[in-house]
Amino acid sequence: MSELIYLNGEFIPQEDACVPVMDRGFLFGDGVYEVIPAYAGQPFRLREHLHRLNASLEGICMSPPLAEDQWRRILQQLLAQRGTEDQQIYLQITRGAYGKRLHTIPDHVTPTVMAFATELTRRDPEMVKQGMSVITLDDIRWERCNIKAITLLANILSQQQALDEGAQEAILVRDGMANEGTASNLFIVKDELIITPPKSQRLLPGITRDLVLELAGDAGLPYAEASISVEELETAEEIWITSSTREVMPVTRLNGHPVANGRPGPMWEKMDALYTACKARLRLRGSPSAE
Ligand SMILES: Cc1ncc(COP(=O)(O)O)c(C=O)c1O
Repeated sequence: MSELIYLNGEFIPQEDACVPVMDRGFLFGDGVYEVIPAYAGQPFRLREHLHRLNASLEGICMSPPLAEDQWRRILQQLLAQRGTEDQQIYLQITRGAYGKRLHTIPDHVTPTVMAFATELTRRDPEMVKQGMSVITLDDIRWERCNIKAITLLANILSQQQALDEGAQEAILVRDGMANEGTASNLFIVKDELIITPPKSQRLLPGITRDLVLELAGDAGLPYAEASISVEELETAEEIWITSSTREVMPVTRLNGHPVANGRPGPMWEKMDALYTACKARLRLRGSPSAE
């Protein structure tokens, strides 16, 4: 039997899950989303993801359609179908279907709420060992990158350009500052200080980014939230990118040149170990409300 998808209050087989063509997500990309990893059947940092989801909704003038405990029940049901293997949840809310194709926001429209669980996209162990190759590109996105909007065309084109040029991610640059990747946040290490750009409308407030700073603080590793110029990126001792599925990845090539000695650095090794230990604690606790 095919897996069930949550759609507007019901759990239905994927092939039966349909959305009207007049849905504003389909017509305009008028919606927001989240990707949440789940280890041993438990969503990781769920509260933080739901908090960001609500901030994204507020950013597009929508109210949260569900409360945290309602989300918890839905996600537990989706995860339970697949047992305790590591998974990821995709959830999406669009403004919903309205009778007309109208640019302005209609007064009365019911949001479309959808979520499903799939196998976790795992990090490629070889890439973890070797480090990633990235290029810098002009940031061609809009000025509200703090909203996790489903409108991802600029990210897709930039990601594809990186792949076409033999890299695995693009670091997006605006006004000489490197802000984040197409689907990741950015960190550098400079004089043994861990640096990531401060939160602003130019980047997504990554859940992994925040966790990395929290782990650095707990372990007494010095860190700062400060802008990163292209020159600082090019002369960094280490570069990392972070995301919920890629976790903390070392970057060892930038625009075809090695980053420092071209190998994952010692600070990355420390942070990767801290991150892995943090996930292991969730597995041990194993309670839905643990994170
Ligand atoms: C543009 C962008 N920045 C940063 C991130 C990392 O966010 P998180 O750590 O919450 O997965 C993502 C994740 O997909 C992203 O799309």
